Amino acid sequence: MPTDDRPVSVLDFDAWKKQGRKITTLTAYDFPTARWLDDAGVDCLLVGDSLGTAVQGRDTTLGVTLDQMVYHAEMVARAARRAFVVCDLPFLSYQASRPQAIRNAGRILKETGAKAVKLEGGVRTAAAIRAVVDAQIPVMGHVGLTPQSVRKFGGFKVQRQADAIRADAMAVAEAGAFAVVLECVPASLAATITAEVPIPTIGIGAGAGCDGQVLVIQDMLGLLEGFRPRFARRYVELGEAIKQAAGRYVADVRSGDFPGESESFR
Ligand code: KIV
Repeated sequence: MPTDDRPVSVLDFDAWKKQGRKITTLTAYDFPTARWLDDAGVDCLLVGDSLGTAVQGRDTTLGVTLDQMVYHAEMVARAARRAFVVCDLPFLSYQASRPQAIRNAGRILKETGAKAVKLEGGVRTAAAIRAVVDAQIPVMGHVGLTPQSVRKFGGFKVQRQADAIRADAMAVAEAGAFAVVLECVPASLAATITAEVPIPTIGIGAGAGCDGQVLVIQDMLGLLEGFRPRFARRYVELGEAIKQAAGRYVADVRSGDFPGESESFR
């Protein structure tokens, strides 16, 4: 449970890094889930473009559109009473030009109530991050395994080019981002970057040395059949629970047990 009900602001991220207080983030894509996570005291809700793989049943995030992100982020932001809501800019909504990045980041803030946007890429994205920050829009960066680069990487693989990833994280910080996601990098590299950069690092598959952690909610709830990333701890097997509940419902309807007297009107 949260110890402080005040809505989280972008300034808290900086304070929490300085205090060594770990930052908790989970993805969310709908109102009820976002409300449960907010009530549980999660600091930051990320409306990730993992929407594509976690909700839409796609193999990658590449097909997710800005309109879809806006639709989901609006629900999440409306549910969040305390948590800080960040919304991903999806593939090709910021890479074409700085004006495109500003316009689309601005659309997210204007239409959804999210408080920040996330852009993937370090050195290659620094100019876009700077432009969006100059437009007064807080930016979270994302380096290491950037899922929008899956075709270039040839798959979802741990990223080990230490010097390039360090330079990427520093470029994101220097461009004015308030935090940076480190995805699927060796734990020792993530710890080094965390010590080097002035902004909080939020790890996913990046070990315990980061300033915070993020998980895709479906991964931690056991809602994605067959997909078990090594870094995702499952706290509950909700997929199994759903299957069992639906199976009982099917049996109850077929046997005539449902609906009963108390579930019917006179
Ligand atoms: O889209 C997403 O959910 C993300 C997290 C995995 C960090 O970018």
